[in-house]
Amino acid sequence: MMLSGGRHRGLVLPCLAVVAALAAAPRGADAYKNYTVGDDKGWYDGLTLPGVDYQAWADGIKNFSLGDFLIFNTDKNHSVVQTRNATLFKSCDYNDSGPDDTVEWSAAAPEFSKDAVTVAVPLLREGRTYFFSGNYDGEQCENGQGFAIDVAHGQGLPPDLRPPAADAPAPSAKPADGAAVLDFSHPKNVTTPSASDGDLSGDDTTSGSSRTLARICLAVMPLVTALFAV
Ligand SMILES: *[C@@H]1O[C@H](CO)[C@@H](O)[C@H](O)[C@H]1NC(C)=O
Ligand SMILES: *[C@@H]1O[C@H](CO)[C@@H](O)[C@H](O)[C@H]1NC(C)=O
Ligand SMILES: *[C@@H]1O[C@H](CO)[C@@H](O)[C@H](O)[C@H]1NC(C)=O
Ligand SMILES: *[C@@H]1O[C@H](CO)[C@@H](O)[C@H](O)[C@H]1NC(C)=O
Ligand SMILES: *[C@@H]1O[C@H](CO)[C@@H](O)[C@H](O)[C@H]1NC(C)=O
Ligand SMILES: *[C@@H]1O[C@H](CO)[C@@H](O)[C@H](O)[C@H]1NC(C)=O
Repeated sequence: MMLSGGRHRGLVLPCLAVVAALAAAPRGADAYKNYTVGDDKGWYDGLTLPGVDYQAWADGIKNFSLGDFLIFNTDKNHSVVQTRNATLFKSCDYNDSGPDDTVEWSAAAPEFSKDAVTVAVPLLREGRTYFFSGNYDGEQCENGQGFAIDVAHGQGLPPDLRPPAADAPAPSAKPADGAAVLDFSHPKNVTTPSASDGDLSGDDTTSGSSRTLARICLAVMPLVTALFAV
């Protein structure tokens, strides 16, 4: 009796520690990133800043993921337009695009001034997406101010970027077609085992739930051990 109870209890703490460590590990190892487009050069067309190559910049990073931000440092003479339509991107013309085809991220209407602006764009959807400047009827886009990236799932969107909470800036949070719907799948939500399993017999609650926890823990232990033994 005493012995088995003691061993039982002795396993709970290490088990909890392992579970806690497992839960914490992926988050720390794989944090969301902010990428400054063009690094120190900022976001300009090739006439303003000869030699800019944003595709080379993007290709150098490669692994963009949901929840990362692109930071565009530019001025009010340049804009930030996002689309998932390759044809539209290649034409540098979004005059005729539907309301859901493009997102204009620029902080304000173009003023054609050199006032500095910083535009932070969260990556909200997986797959290929394109960015370009829409000013001057596509002239800036034609002069090198555009690039494509592929957005991986990574760890998924953080809670504050998931659609229900996402406020104003993205006018096209609604999917335009069935094809590439926002993927806000499977937010990690660990349900506490049987916390509300209709346990109305008051006095036994605490020991009952800790016994349940211990049982789950013991059941999972071999798996956990196997994972760490590799
Ligand atoms: C990334 O940029 C966003 C938007 O500006 C900001 O809220 C967030 O704190 C930044 N994250 C990091 C790690 O710098
Ligand atoms: C992708 O991201 C990881 C983690 O941030 C990083 O260590 C790795 O170098 C990146 N890979 C490429 C090809 O940039
Ligand atoms: C992409 O954009 C072009 C030009 O605006 C348009 O004709 C075409 O229908 C769009 N394609 C999709 C799949 O929306
Ligand atoms: C805005 O950019 C265009 C090139 O796209 C350039 O011709 C024009 O001089 C710029 N205007 C200002 C105010 O910087
Ligand atoms: C876009 O529309 C404007 C006026 O609405 C026009 O002046 C411009 O030529 C159009 N751009 C292209 C690339 O067709
Ligand atoms: C987890 O689930 C509970 C109950 O269903 C809900 O109230 C809570 O908002 C969820 N948390 C997350 C992070 O999804």
